[in-house]
Amino acid sequence: MKKEIVPLNVLLFENDKELLDADRFLLEQARQAAEKAYAPYSRFKVGAAVKLANGKIIHGNNQENAAYPSGLCAERVALFFAHAEYPEVPVEAIAITAKGNKGVIDIPLSPCGACRQVMAESEKNSNQQMRVIMQGEKGPVMIAESMKVLLPFSFLDDYLHKYTNTNL
Ligand code: THU
Repeated sequence: MKKEIVPLNVLLFENDKELLDADRFLLEQARQAAEKAYAPYSRFKVGAAVKLANGKIIHGNNQENAAYPSGLCAERVALFFAHAEYPEVPVEAIAITAKGNKGVIDIPLSPCGACRQVMAESEKNSNQQMRVIMQGEKGPVMIAESMKVLLPFSFLDDYLHKYTNTNL
């Protein structure tokens, strides 16, 4: 396996006023996506907005189901749709936010492990860093310059290439 230096670069902002316009805009897009979430069971509405290298913005929100495990997180809805529609286009950034039905979320939304795993494969395939922009409904914003910050030493297809004889 080739040697790699893991960049642990996280930026913490007091609020979104300090952000670049493009990042604030992407968070706003995520916020709008959260409004449309289908979350009747958890009542926790998550929104994600993915910015592609071709300038397109793809929205996703959590889609729940009466058979609970059949639902999917906002981040994966957005990323899978982005890859379905634009398979060759790298993801430059993903903004993630959420709102509940009790109180105002004032801490950054930190994506679940399964979504991080999907981000890891997406970033690897694109050969460019995926910025992850996280905020609640208000308050501090956390930005990871690469998703590797969120899931260092992730499981990637290198293992499969090296240690199996499947024709990947
Ligand atoms: N959820 C997301 O959409 N993204 C995450 O990163 C964490 C959790 C959703 C799944 C479920 O619909 C609800 O939030 C409560 O777990």
